Amino acid sequence: MNIALKAPPIPDCNVPAYSPSGQECALFESAWTRQLPLLLKGPTGCGKTRFVAHMAAKLGLPLSTVSCHDDLAAADLTGRYLLKGGDTVWVDGPLTRAVREGGICYLDEIVEARKDVAVVLHPLTDDRRVLPLERTGELLEAPPGFMLVVSYNPGYQNLLKTLKPSTRQRFVAIEFDFLPRDREIAVVSEESGLAESRVAPLVDLAHRLRSLKGHDLEEGVSTRLIVYCASLVDSGVTLRDAVLATMIEPLTDEPDVKAALIEIADAVIRQG
Ligand SMILES: Nc1ncnc2c1ncn2[C@@H]1O[C@H](COP(=O)(O)OP(=O)(O)O)[C@@H](O)[C@H]1O
Ligand SMILES: [Mg+2]
Repeated sequence: MNIALKAPPIPDCNVPAYSPSGQECALFESAWTRQLPLLLKGPTGCGKTRFVAHMAAKLGLPLSTVSCHDDLAAADLTGRYLLKGGDTVWVDGPLTRAVREGGICYLDEIVEARKDVAVVLHPLTDDRRVLPLERTGELLEAPPGFMLVVSYNPGYQNLLKTLKPSTRQRFVAIEFDFLPRDREIAVVSEESGLAESRVAPLVDLAHRLRSLKGHDLEEGVSTRLIVYCASLVDSGVTLRDAVLATMIEPLTDEPDVKAALIEIADAVIRQG
């Protein structure tokens, strides 16, 4: 009997679905090949994280994702000494692990992190590609299989939360935005299971609400929220309740703004 020893090809269903908006997949692959760090800019919920998951799976690379927050310090990425049964042992953080083992380290919403994070990223993002671990005295050289990817949302009004030029200019940068109408309808339908004809008015409503960004709203409705809305509708929630819970409540706590959004939503729902 002939037994095939070749590993079976990875079925496509293991690659998270991603609908590209331009040349970002080819750019990612080239950056990976040339060992260049990548910066993804764009509003929240427009597909940045999905894109990285898609590319990591497509290239067969391990992916370590860190969601940055305002308490996240450099030591949370590099590692620290911890007490274990009376001994102090060094425990690698996710960035150090990725540098030792290779693969993609993805720092999501990097501007949220504390300022000392930039300091550890700098020597990793120029041609040295090293990670100095002051606490252990090690100087780790990143292997060819290591790639740093960071994302941030430049749309926030908070001026304190932008990336310093000295950090930004160390990355190949790709700008993301929401997909064009028809593509967004297709993605939301695919993700939620709701028919495209029923998704269309939700995307149209999202467009109306996005146009208020900067006036009454800090952020517009993300693709993520439209997917939530369509998923609720697909499981039997009424259109108005789903819209209220996913496309209005998450956007504002201001009663006046909320009333105005409901008015817009009701008009779009009536037309749809
Ligand atoms: N281009 C896209 N292709 C496929 N799904 C997408 C795309 N853009 C957004 N989505 C959907 O929106 C959700 C949120 O996207 P995500 O990648 O988490 O946004 P971000 O990281 O930009 O905040 C995803 O889980 C997916 O369902
Ligand atoms: Mg994200």
